[in-house]
Parts: sequence; structure tokens; C-alpha cells
Amino acid sequence: MICFGANIGGVVVGFFIKNQACLLNYKQCNLLIRKISGINNFFANQEQADELSDKIRTADVVASEPDRRAYGDFQTNMSLAKKVAKYALSKYRDVEFLLEPTCGKGNFLLAAIEQSSGLKKVVGIEIYQPYVWETKFKILEHFLLERRERVPEIEIIHANVFEFPFEKLAKSTKNLKTLIIGNPPWVTNSELGSIDSRNLPPKSNFKKDKGFDAITGKGNFDIGEYISLLMFKYFDRHTGLFAFLVKNSVVKSVIKYQRKYNFRIGQSEQLNIDAKKEFGVSVAAGLFLTHLSCDPGYTCLEQDFYTHKPSTTFGWYKNRFVYSIQDYDASAMLDGESAFVWRSGVKHDCAKVMELGRNEGHYTNALGESFELENDLVYGLLKSSDLRASVVTSFRKMIVITQQKIGQDTAYIKERYPHTYRYLWSHKSFFDKRKSGIYKGKPDFSIFGIGDYSFAPYKVAISGLYKSTHFSLVHPVEGKPVMLDDTCYFIGFDHLKMAEIAHYLLNSALVQRFLKSIIFSGSKRPVTKDILMRIDFESAFERLEFNSAQKHIPGLGKAHWDVFRELIKTESTEQVPLF
Ligand SMILES: C[S@@+](CC[C@H](N)C(=O)[O-])C[C@H]1O[C@@H](n2cnc3c(N)ncnc32)[C@H](O)[C@@H]1O
Repeated sequence: MICFGANIGGVVVGFFIKNQACLLNYKQCNLLIRKISGINNFFANQEQADELSDKIRTADVVASEPDRRAYGDFQTNMSLAKKVAKYALSKYRDVEFLLEPTCGKGNFLLAAIEQSSGLKKVVGIEIYQPYVWETKFKILEHFLLERRERVPEIEIIHANVFEFPFEKLAKSTKNLKTLIIGNPPWVTNSELGSIDSRNLPPKSNFKKDKGFDAITGKGNFDIGEYISLLMFKYFDRHTGLFAFLVKNSVVKSVIKYQRKYNFRIGQSEQLNIDAKKEFGVSVAAGLFLTHLSCDPGYTCLEQDFYTHKPSTTFGWYKNRFVYSIQDYDASAMLDGESAFVWRSGVKHDCAKVMELGRNEGHYTNALGESFELENDLVYGLLKSSDLRASVVTSFRKMIVITQQKIGQDTAYIKERYPHTYRYLWSHKSFFDKRKSGIYKGKPDFSIFGIGDYSFAPYKVAISGLYKSTHFSLVHPVEGKPVMLDDTCYFIGFDHLKMAEIAHYLLNSALVQRFLKSIIFSGSKRPVTKDILMRIDFESAFERLEFNSAQKHIPGLGKAHWDVFRELIKTESTEQVPLF
């Protein structure tokens, strides 16, 4: 049966049918429910009791649930909630105070209530009223089925977590052994802001708060991260445990800011779940579990939720934030500053017009058009998916390179390349529609991520999108350098042997280990310019052996080796901004 938008199980319906007379006086009914289940103030007024009474009489069963996924609303299935509660309670027993700050339909509360006998107080908070009811009905059902001598005091509160008086709650529960459990919304403030700006932390409050300037200062922050910090702010001195299902990026962020804010949390664990299986979403997520009221900890053990197989310990180590302490320990000597400036590839935001194919001597585009262009401004183009091979000597796509450096006047195209100009001009509306502000006020058909370095004949490149830290050696094709798109990073060389040595060095076991130790593989863009700029070429080169390199690089001579050594000593480390 559905009432107040919530599902009510048969046992609870039976209970209210049996006690229908009691519904005539909601206060009396509240006392009965409290005695059975511990739930306080089940009905807030007589109208609510009357509505339920009417529903029971008319047995209204049909209602569809609204889709609340846009609000980050992913209710935890009961089986997962039970496993999480079981694991949490195996780490911390004898819980007396249970808190779920965004309790949804109450599966976590129920799972924890079922598995603990010494509870004294339970608090669930939820902004969506039908879920408040569903939680209350579920808990009532549990206690109707399993009568207990002593029941905890239970408050299921319809409230906004961002406005809840946690300070008061923390004071009244400070001596109770605590379990904060749950699954806060999986959504960022800007995603939420676009659909419901009321359901956001109050701006005026969070700026001043400990720990909050760091996340909110980022502009786009995760609501789950905010709620986690809120819990630490008020409850990190309670003896107990915190166990939240969150995106892995939230755990990373909390541990990262821990060095600045020193919450009294420690012995942290991240247990990766299969979010596709559990919630139907492809996102790296897990159970973030941390003990409260301990010396501040700065690392986190990552393991599999289902098998408990550990994968790494990440966090602060030797003053650096690293993904694998073990791998970092073995490769920390490579953590420095790259002798080469890593560049990202060409950015144009106009793929339909700028990216070309070739068919029977004509160029083609994604609009299905076929046309002639002068060859001069057309270059081969590689995307992330083209960088799977170790050595790349061909390309699938081409690109029109309209500028040799950022901001260059493009008037020359009209004079020197009339076909290319006619093509670009007739598609100008596609360029004008580009949303990014970087194109505003710039010459027609402007591109970014372009400079002398783009025209180096040999490149050593990597995709920013994949977990793989494999580097590819890119050769010129038909005497022309090949371009990379803006999902890739590269360094350029004039001479093949120098590029080959760099390629060999970057794919060497030690550099690979170093990269693995600092890259958080769950990130959307695991490989970044910042990561690559940390590779100390000199230190890596010192650890290579010429004889081994010779076996991998045909025709490598000692002279090449020595020139490379000089190159990495003299190459500028000055970073030139992309834009
Ligand atoms: C990811 S769901 C998880 C629900 C429940 N904890 C579970 O694990 O099944 C997040 C819940 O947070 C609730 N919520 C969202 N914003 C809230 C707010 N400002 N205050 C309280 N609850 C909120 C949503 O309605 C939703 O039920």
C-alpha cells in the first residue's frame, strides 16, 4: 500500500487495521508506536493519522515513484546496506548511537538496527517526506515482527541536513558509542544547483567553516564531501565509526584536505564497490570507513568491498600526496621537475568542420561533405584511442591547422590558400557557435594548444584519459609532423634518436612505477600535465643502462646517449601556459 508517497508493508498495514480506533487520536497512537518501536512523534498531527486511516479503508495501492536520480538520489539496496552495516559493526561493536544524516528510505538504519542490540538512540534525517514515512513504516514493521523488551529512542526527522542543528545533537550524544552510517547524495553543487538551488549548503555559513573553504573554494564540490565534512566537524570527538558510501573522489579529497584540517579521524579504509551493479551508474565509488576520536590519520587503505583484497594505501607520504605509498617509496627519486615542458594537443571545439577524412583524393568532414583543400594546412591527427601502439606511423584523421601559434592573425589563409579559406568561411557559423570564452575576440577560426612545439617532427605522447601510463612514439607521416588532440599530452623532438631515448626512458619500469604511485586511477582524467611535469628525466636517465637501451633502440650510439644527457640538463623547465 502507498501512503504519503511511501510504501507500507503488509505487516504495518495489518497493524494499523487492527489499531484503527487508535488512529482517531494521533497522540495515543504515537505512544503505542513508541512503545513498540522507539519511534518518536510518528504522526505530527491528527490530519496525518486521518489520512492513513482513509488510505487503509480505501486500500489505495497504485502509485509510481518519481525519478529522483538528478538529485543524487541513489537508494542503497537492502543487501548492500546489510553488508556495509555488518562490516562496520565488525570494526566497531556495541554501538549506542546511530546516525544517518540523509537516510532516504531507511535501509541503512534498518540494517544497522537489525544487527545491533545495544542501541540507545537512532537519528535519521531526510529532506524528501515520502522517504521519511517509508523509513518510519519500515522500522515499525521491523519491531512489529521482532518485539524487543527495550527499544532505542528513534527520531526520523523531515529536515534539510544543511540546516540541521548538529551541534545540539552532538552535545546530547557525546558519551554514546557512535556509528554514522549512510550514503549522501551523489551529486555536485552545480549539478544540483541547476535543478534545485534550495537544496544546497548555505553559502554564508560554509566559507568560514573549518575544512569547508577548501572544498567549496573549488566552486564545484561534491555534496557527499560536504556532508562527510559536516559529520567530522560535529562528531569527530565521539568515540565511534563513520561509514559512508561515496564516490572515490570524495575519499581522495577528504584525505587530501586532512593534512590541513586534521580532523580526529584515522585508520581509514576505502572499499571499492561495483557501482554499476549496485546502483546502475558507472562511477568509481566505495565505502569510506574511518574511526572517530583518534589521532588524525593521513592515509587510507584501498581494498575490494566484496573480497577485501587490498590494492594500495594512498594519502600523505613524505610530504607528498600519493596513490601508492609502496610504489612511491621505490620510485620517489624520480619525483622532481621535468626537463621538458609537456604540452596538450590542439583544441578547436569544432570537430565537424576541422577534423577531416580523405576519400578518393578529396577531403571529407563529419557533415558528409566532400571538398578540395590545399594540403599545406592539413595535418595528420591522433586522438587518445590512436595511442595504443608503441610506435605510431600513420593516422586515421586529419585536421586543418589554421595558426602556427596562439592568437596569430588568420587573414593570410585567404591570400595563400583560397580553397581552405572558402571552406572555413562557408562553415564560419560552426566556429561562431563555440561556447568556450577562450575564442571570444580572437581571430576567425582560432585554435589553441598550438605553438612551435606542435610542429616538432617526432613526439612522445600519452593519452590523458586512460589508466594506462604507456607512452607512444609518433613519427612524421609523408614528411609532415602529426598533431595530437587535446586529450593527449606530448613532448616534441627534432631528432629521432632523442625521441627514441625519451620514449624508452618513459616506458622504463621505474618511471612507470613512479607514475602508478602518483596517479589516482579512478579519476576522470588520470594523467595530467601536473603529473607529467613531475618526472625528473635526469634522475630516471641516471638509472638507465646504455647497453640495455641499445637492445631496444636500433642504431643507438654512445654519442646519442651523451647528447640526450646534455639535452635534459639544458632543456628549459619554464612552463609556458597553454592558453
Ligand atoms: C544517495 S541517496 C541515499 C539514501 C539512503 N541514505 C540510502 O543509502 O539508501 C541520498 C538521499 O539524500 C536525500 N537528501 C538530498 N538532499 C538532502 C538534504 N539537503 N537534506 C537531507 N536529505 C537530503 C535524498 O532525498 C536521498 O534520499
